[in-house]
Amino acid sequence: MPPPARSPTTGPRRRALVLALLLLPLLLLLLHLASAPAPRAHRKPSSRSQACDYSAGEWVRDPVAGSSLRYDDTCKEIFKGWNCISNGKANARDLLGWRWTPAGPGCEFPRLDPRRFLERHRDTSIGFVGDSLNRNMFASLVCMLRGVSSEVRKWRPAGADRGFTFLRYNLTVAYHRTNLLVRYGRWSANPNGGTLESLGYKQGYRVDVDIPDQTWVEACSFHDVLIFNTGHWWWAPSKFDPIRSPMLFFEKGRPIVPPLLPPAGLDLALQNMIMFANKAMRPNTVKFFRTQSPRHFEGGDWNEGGSCQRNQPLSSEEVEEFFSLDNNSTNVEARLVNQHLVKALEQSSFRVLDITRMSEFRADAHPSTTGGKKHDDCMHWSLPGPTDTWNDLLASSLEAVENV
Ligand SMILES: *[C@@H]1O[C@H](CO)[C@@H](O)[C@H](O)[C@H]1NC(C)=O
Ligand SMILES: *[C@@H]1O[C@H](CO)[C@@H](O)[C@H](O)[C@H]1NC(C)=O
Ligand SMILES: *[C@@H]1O[C@H](CO)[C@@H](O)[C@H](O)[C@H]1NC(C)=O
Repeated sequence: MPPPARSPTTGPRRRALVLALLLLPLLLLLLHLASAPAPRAHRKPSSRSQACDYSAGEWVRDPVAGSSLRYDDTCKEIFKGWNCISNGKANARDLLGWRWTPAGPGCEFPRLDPRRFLERHRDTSIGFVGDSLNRNMFASLVCMLRGVSSEVRKWRPAGADRGFTFLRYNLTVAYHRTNLLVRYGRWSANPNGGTLESLGYKQGYRVDVDIPDQTWVEACSFHDVLIFNTGHWWWAPSKFDPIRSPMLFFEKGRPIVPPLLPPAGLDLALQNMIMFANKAMRPNTVKFFRTQSPRHFEGGDWNEGGSCQRNQPLSSEEVEEFFSLDNNSTNVEARLVNQHLVKALEQSSFRVLDITRMSEFRADAHPSTTGGKKHDDCMHWSLPGPTDTWNDLLASSLEAVENV
């Protein structure tokens, strides 16, 4: 703003009077601020949107959203199978023409502005910790930021699978790969016997519910913002076959007996990892837990020929058919996992990034037959795609936090 113009005829007395008049409202304002019970609230630019629940709403057709992309298929960080535009998925562009609209009256959902994000999060380090769905989210964020700032250093912070520093802003974004958050590995019976052996177990996976995976142990000490997830692998009978290769839970180095089923193991792992993270992190680290990303297999699970051929988001009724726990259908995992997350996070200082509901509608937005796998990919998301909206949610949640 230009400085106010000075009148050359203004005398010193008049000037003093004007000055006093100008300062009076400022003084009053300062007094008011000093006596207000929550002065911080006045500084929040987004207090109006505080009341909005971004996790509930609907997808509305929006041609502008589809034509003002923040990145496209040329972003190198998109894993090949998720690049629906370059893989020729028929609706790869059409699926971008929808805007998430929160349910409350007057609620608007701000889109992440990449330049503002870079400016606001200078000298910051952001870590995604979790399975390939968190990598999907990581790639979306990196692509959005690269769209406006291409000078990056590609490197791997300790334990990370991949990471980038946006050099002009000294903002680092990294991905730490971990399927269960906790450590696990192959287990087979010891010929000399043991607790599990005496129960008849021959092989499986040893899952230590109280030991964090090596990939993210150190992440807690240097990231300023962390976004965790886990879920899909706890309901993955193709890997952790309940008979041939069950999950065998260990605590304090000893097998838990009687053996637990995966849902109970998940509860213990979450409990322990939340405790670990709270201790390992610096006090002002901002920690998020992302809720479960829903899958959309129809006509069978991924290994039973299931597919996702929709060209539009589901209706609310269809969403219930897919995900209602009462119907116990193929994709029921999403809400099941969330029940465990909610329980574990209740008493914790984690913020919850609730992306489940908005994503449940988007049966149209998976790589499907173009994912480059033997089966249809109805689990990961096309990029660009709905995952960008998860990052919109992340950005607006960070806006509400003062110290980052
Ligand atoms: C760059 O950011 C990191 C946090 O990610 C910070 O520790 C470091 O001091 C910053 N470097 C400079 C030169 O400001
Ligand atoms: C279960 O699915 C049916 C359609 O298959 C649907 O009409 C019903 O609402 C669903 N049940 C619940 C509890 O949502
Ligand atoms: C849900 O379906 C699966 C198989 O699709 C079955 O194993 C399980 O017992 C069912 N659960 C309930 C509560 O009906």
